Amino acid sequence: MNKINHIKFLRSKTFKHVNDKFYLLKKRIRAGIIGIGNCFAGLLQGIEYYKTTKNHVTGVIHEKIKHYSIFDIDFVSGFDVGKNKIGQKLSDAIYQSPNLVNWVPHNKMPETQAIVHEAPVLDGVGKWVQKQINPIKNAKTLDCIEDEIKKTLKKTKTEILVSYLPVGSDLATQFWAKICLDTNTAFVNCIPSFVASDQKWAHKFITKNIPIIGDDIKGQIGATILHRTIAKLCNDRGTEIKNMYQLNVGGNTDFLNMREYERLTSKKISKTDSVQSQLDKKLPSHRIHVGPSDYVPFLENTKLMFLRIMGNQWANIPYTIETQLKVDDKANSAGIVVDAIRLAKLSLDRKIGGPIFPACAYLMKHPPKQMSDNEAMASVQNFINNVH
Ligand SMILES: NC(=O)c1ccc[n+]([C@@H]2O[C@H](COP(=O)([O-])OP(=O)(O)OC[C@H]3O[C@@H](n4cnc5c(N)ncnc54)[C@H](O)[C@@H]3O)[C@@H](O)[C@H]2O)c1
Repeated sequence: MNKINHIKFLRSKTFKHVNDKFYLLKKRIRAGIIGIGNCFAGLLQGIEYYKTTKNHVTGVIHEKIKHYSIFDIDFVSGFDVGKNKIGQKLSDAIYQSPNLVNWVPHNKMPETQAIVHEAPVLDGVGKWVQKQINPIKNAKTLDCIEDEIKKTLKKTKTEILVSYLPVGSDLATQFWAKICLDTNTAFVNCIPSFVASDQKWAHKFITKNIPIIGDDIKGQIGATILHRTIAKLCNDRGTEIKNMYQLNVGGNTDFLNMREYERLTSKKISKTDSVQSQLDKKLPSHRIHVGPSDYVPFLENTKLMFLRIMGNQWANIPYTIETQLKVDDKANSAGIVVDAIRLAKLSLDRKIGGPIFPACAYLMKHPPKQMSDNEAMASVQNFINNVH
């Protein structure tokens, strides 16, 4: 190798100084995706958007996590059940119905090598979204699909799996958590089916020393972070919160799926606990209502959140706060998942397994250990800087 090529080679790699030795770290991150829906479409198109804009990356919490930028993530495998997505390249599948994200036109999206593979349907498809998703009928046995998935993960060298399954996919989540345990793959669980925050599952990840970050993504500027922040403010300023509600409406399949109330139990727990955790004293359940509330098709990926907090301040004098948030729900999710993937990779590099507590608390609604958002932010920074 001549000198110039050698310098180019060295620049493409990163060295880490550990115990007075330099280790060469692989700089790329190999992620796989479960559920090629709107959230993943927003993640892939968002990264492409930044590639084509000349400015530095704005709109993310961390431009770099150690040496990992958002451009170091390669999506090397994908899994879904939609007939129109299976077999397609990821870069094509993200534009298939019922996905709605179109920030980068399809013909401007570079082709990915990775294709979408068949996943087991299990409890992934709810009754309201059945027609829109048009799922395959798995012809193979579950063992056979499991075997194929494991081969795909090995062949594609997938090191982190991100779950974007629909709300209510408890069995499917357990299936994928087990796949991660069997294949030594890190897990980022973006949905409210509890794994990282479930003691039994967390223990399994600890025992096998596999990183897990979960559960249920806390959007970048979403209903949860806003509600937590305002509720904590009212709490910390010494007022007494009497009642509060958070109503959400949206027009994508995520919201349509959540019309099926039986699928919502863990979502309500996740969202409600997240807010309650910021109060010195929890509100009785009949005084707090937090939930996805309705599906309004023309809103598409726009989510509207209506928040009302009623309380008493000095001398028992009442006050009311009303806030409305209008936000693109998919930008909200992608802005957090780019950090979750890079923090999972950092954990793999450092051979740290089990729930990654700082990342879970900062990025997820239902972590194994709740913190205030300021505390969680500082603890993520310490984790990145390897300060204990
Ligand atoms: N801000 C946010 O968008 C946000 C925040 C928190 C949590 N989440 C959660 O992230 C998840 C993904 O959201 P989305 O908007 O991408 O949903 P979506 O409905 O657009 O996509 C879900 C995808 O999963 C696929 N799927 C269904 N069953 C499957 C199975 N058994 N195996 C593999 N794939 C299956 C569907 O075909 C679809 O492609 C939802 O659970 C949502 O609640 C999103």
